[in-house]
Amino acid sequence: MYDKSTQQQLFQRSREFLNLDASSLVNSVEELREIIRYHEWRYYVMNDPVISDFEYDQLFKKLEHIEHQDPKLITPDSPTQRVSDDTTSDFPTVEHLQPMLSLGNSYDLEDLKEFDRQVRKLAGMQQDQPVEYAIEPKFDGGSIALVYENNALTRAATRGNGVEGDEITANVRTLRSVPLRADFAKFNIARAEVRGEAIIPKALFARINKEREQSGDTLFANPRNAATGGLRVKNPEETQKRGIEVFVYNLGFAHDHNGSDQQKVLRTHDEGLRILEQLGFKIPHQERTVCKGIDAVFEFVKTWEGQRDSYPYEIDGMVVKVNDLNLQEKCGYTSHHPRWAIAFKFKAKQATTQLLDVEYQVGKVGSITPVAKVRPVQLGGVTISSISLHNEDFITGKDLRIDDFVVIERAGDVIPHVVKALPDMREGTEEPIQFPEFCPLNDQEQVRLVREEGEAAWRCPHCTCGAQPLMRMVWHVSRDAMDIDGLGRAILERFCEMGWVNNIADLYDLDYNEIAKLEGFGKKSAENLRNAIEKAKNNPLHKVLNSLSIHHLGKRASKILAGHITHALDLTRITEEELTAIKDIGPVLAKNIVVWFSNPEHVSMIKRMESLGVNMTQTAEDNSTPVQTEGPLSGKSILFTGTLQTMTREEAREKAEAAGGRTVSAVSAKLDILVVGEKAGSKLKKARELGTVTIMTEDEFLELAGQQ
Ligand code: IVH
Repeated sequence: MYDKSTQQQLFQRSREFLNLDASSLVNSVEELREIIRYHEWRYYVMNDPVISDFEYDQLFKKLEHIEHQDPKLITPDSPTQRVSDDTTSDFPTVEHLQPMLSLGNSYDLEDLKEFDRQVRKLAGMQQDQPVEYAIEPKFDGGSIALVYENNALTRAATRGNGVEGDEITANVRTLRSVPLRADFAKFNIARAEVRGEAIIPKALFARINKEREQSGDTLFANPRNAATGGLRVKNPEETQKRGIEVFVYNLGFAHDHNGSDQQKVLRTHDEGLRILEQLGFKIPHQERTVCKGIDAVFEFVKTWEGQRDSYPYEIDGMVVKVNDLNLQEKCGYTSHHPRWAIAFKFKAKQATTQLLDVEYQVGKVGSITPVAKVRPVQLGGVTISSISLHNEDFITGKDLRIDDFVVIERAGDVIPHVVKALPDMREGTEEPIQFPEFCPLNDQEQVRLVREEGEAAWRCPHCTCGAQPLMRMVWHVSRDAMDIDGLGRAILERFCEMGWVNNIADLYDLDYNEIAKLEGFGKKSAENLRNAIEKAKNNPLHKVLNSLSIHHLGKRASKILAGHITHALDLTRITEEELTAIKDIGPVLAKNIVVWFSNPEHVSMIKRMESLGVNMTQTAEDNSTPVQTEGPLSGKSILFTGTLQTMTREEAREKAEAAGGRTVSAVSAKLDILVVGEKAGSKLKKARELGTVTIMTEDEFLELAGQQ
């Protein structure tokens, strides 16, 4: 339908149009329509959109705005003049009893207020009279219309083009959340048209995709595609297998036995939903409400926006509906949507942008993290210009190239990540990303990077450029380590430049008079810094151990270790065997500790810190057993191997610990769970050989850890 160069051109132009005001697009209105049609094709026909829903909505709104300003510009084939079409030739087409329209969109309180003003105007209400609204989730699945005659399900259809849809009764009959019989007669309803959304719970979706991956099938882009695809399979048994659920959100066209219409039977939208519930349909519960006034509406939708990620179904917003059906009638419809309802769209989770360059950062133990520099783009209310690419396997796994267009995503408050590249948009000049062989931060000397078995990261084994000491200082002062208030990366960089600090011991030997003279400091700030540093000197031993940047020595292991020694330098005499004998300390960590404490530079640094007043002895707090979190993984030891797709190792470890588990660094008979990412190697093999280890995928782990 579209050849490659046309697609690229339409894609490029959409990006330009997104940055332009509707008013400056008036002369390009036909091109805008062409662009929108193209994105509808990518979305509905190809199931593979190249821009986010939010960006599509923006383009659509611009077109609506232009046509609204000058209705002469409207053409009968404009995307605004119909709802999108998803009918196929595989099923008979049926006409809906009432057209299935779309919804207008709102994004903030201002949009909602405007909607509310319009409603009162159309309904002829006073502007200070509050309207009662019903609010429900906006499920992100496939809409269906179910017709019941004389209490029996007689027909089910997809939305199609809004006027006609595909008749999919046989498939829908397999869905257990759709009653085949329902006693509508009890409510004096002879014929009902129930509308709802077919959706797949997120957790089930993850499982389906995993299975498809294992059997070599193509993956579904999202739960919506899996659900809409499942409704349209030839064999109804296949529909049933997919685990589709139907939430209903409207009871309509309910002629009673005397032929009068639903307004006589029903007074409110909410009543309709309650009837449906009594008849055995699935309706939303705590995520649904009826409230008065638009401010209360805003509060409710924002609360749900905050909880969106913990909701078991994919929702992309909330739907706000005038509750009173008489008022609804007064408001009426446009050709595209009802004027009595509006969708409140949650902040976009995805956006498309261009990968411009890759920079490399070094961590406190020398791990090299590639960071993509992308063309700045708004996502979830913030501007994103760089995104971690985690490690080399992530880059090769996603086949990312410099200049590629990429889809990025940010779920909840989580750090943004790259979902996929858009290979169809490549022009041939995109360059593969060459992961460096030598430390990219060191321009003085070539230090070859190393990658240890089972590790995802390349590391710089001996830093001569100063980047790692800086990162170690940054870590040392951070909240999770020594918690020194008022010291952060920027100040540490300045102190380094002044030659005042080279390693963490220097932080306890600062000249506060000199600091007070620094621009932006002054006596007071210098004094505050002194107090914060003095306070940190009394930190318990476990905090000190955790602050030293010993590879794999985290908070929990530091506590365990501090409980077993009386002084930090005891660790200079300890053997790997003695360490592994301590519960929860594995061989890799044991080796790292021994190696670290056998380095004379480290020992003299500890001695110097102690002479400067930093506590190096066990305190009462160190001797208390570490708190064990209760959770689904309580008492379980967990190990991650291979490249994880949705989180970093650090995040995975935190998740495991938050769920009560403890993470270990090697496969042994003591290991309970091995979580395998992509390209898992020897650890997986060893765990299989042991036969006692539960091996699970990243999704299975997330599901398990999430059940709290
Ligand atoms: S009301 C005439 N309520 O969103 C009223 N729609 O963009 C229109 N949707 O195709 C629908 N959840 O399939 C309504 N609680 C909800 C909904 C909902 C999801 C879908 C619906 C429609 C699309 C509109």
